[in-house]
Amino acid sequence: QLKIAVIGGGSSYTPELIDGLIRYHDMFPVADLYLVDIEAGAEKLKVVGDLAQRMIDASGKPIKLHLTLDRREAIRGADFVTTQIRVGMLDARSRDEKIPLAHHLIGQETTGAGGFAKALRTIPVILDICKDIEELAPDAFMINFTNPAGLVTEAVSKYSRVKSVGLCNLPISTKMQIAELYGVPQTEMYIEIVGINHLHWTTRVMIDGKEMTGDFLDKLSGAKGISMANIPDLEWDAEFIQSLGALPCAYHRYYYMKEEMLREIMEHYEATGKTRADEVKEVEAELFELYKQPALTSKPPQLEKRGGAYYSEAAVQLMKSIYNDTGDIQTVNVRNQGIIPCLPDNVAIEVNCVIKSDGPHALSLSHPLPPQIRGLLQVVKAYEELTVEAAVHGDYAAALQALTIHPLVGDEQTAKALLNDLLEQNSGFLPQF
Ligand code: G6P
Ligand code: MN
Repeated sequence: QLKIAVIGGGSSYTPELIDGLIRYHDMFPVADLYLVDIEAGAEKLKVVGDLAQRMIDASGKPIKLHLTLDRREAIRGADFVTTQIRVGMLDARSRDEKIPLAHHLIGQETTGAGGFAKALRTIPVILDICKDIEELAPDAFMINFTNPAGLVTEAVSKYSRVKSVGLCNLPISTKMQIAELYGVPQTEMYIEIVGINHLHWTTRVMIDGKEMTGDFLDKLSGAKGISMANIPDLEWDAEFIQSLGALPCAYHRYYYMKEEMLREIMEHYEATGKTRADEVKEVEAELFELYKQPALTSKPPQLEKRGGAYYSEAAVQLMKSIYNDTGDIQTVNVRNQGIIPCLPDNVAIEVNCVIKSDGPHALSLSHPLPPQIRGLLQVVKAYEELTVEAAVHGDYAAALQALTIHPLVGDEQTAKALLNDLLEQNSGFLPQF
């Protein structure tokens, strides 16, 4: 009897997940699906839960749906626990995006100071969930979609005994977009992705067993590369891509095009008074109105306006492959253990893994990382290691160093003022400080 608990079940993304669970039910026969939320999310849980029930009914699949505010009941004996929580909800995200702007820095949900604040709020809550899993479902896999997913995965692997995998829709979206570029099915291509969450590079492309990396870089030079709905898709400079020798991910624009991206975000904010979180609130309101319509029995296309489109594909494929011991290759967040030799063993990385019943097994890299990739990767990973310490122990010194070395901050006085602002404006969510 396959049991799944979804923590943060009232999320507007839940219909995505339900859609995937229905589509893959033959291979991944979920019997009991628990959607859990907190008191403050109870209303959303009801609306999403009703839609989920209609979707299940329309599919005819024998999935028993449970809506609950009792997290422990949901976790007890579960095979998989997925997390998709947003501590402080979109209001907190909106602040994460605006506080850095006031310091003339990029404000973003997961990258830079915004992602840092989100990590401080989120990691203690996730570790609390892990305690329940250790006690009530010690054999369960935790599939973490909660951002910043890399940092959260690292905290879980350092500070709990839970078997966890960090998941993002960016690798799967990248593969879909490259398959489309070449007009081939995904099964005929192999792409090597290496790095950390929201900072990975596509270092190799093979189509039909043939090496196509050079051709791929030519195609992507002076083009938009991988686009995501939540990131302005500025074009990549041809010479830059050729000299990098890899395709950056969508989030790399915040690093490699820092000035232009800051200008873009600032101008948008000044013109509209809104950041992405404020727009997402509007999309969410629209989605929830749709979800309430009794005639709706499938996920609405409007969900694709969100950056997390295809998240169900990633989540359900991962669980399905663990359940069936498939041995296929997926790109997920796991403990390094020597795969990227220039990083410590115990940090989280995002790489290609063979998915077996005991979880993901990371594949060795086909080439060593060149210095231009290694350098940025090491510094952002060091920022992440410090941020995990800051989040777990309320360590101000670690927090200050984390922000200071982050490439989007890079100045100690700025880091200090920013940190004090972030701590003050998040004080209700940071018991560890
Ligand atoms: C991408 C990222 C997610 C992120 C999302 C934001 O899909 O992979 O980690 O949460 O974008 O999208 P949103 O619509 O909330 O701005
Ligand atoms: Mn992501």
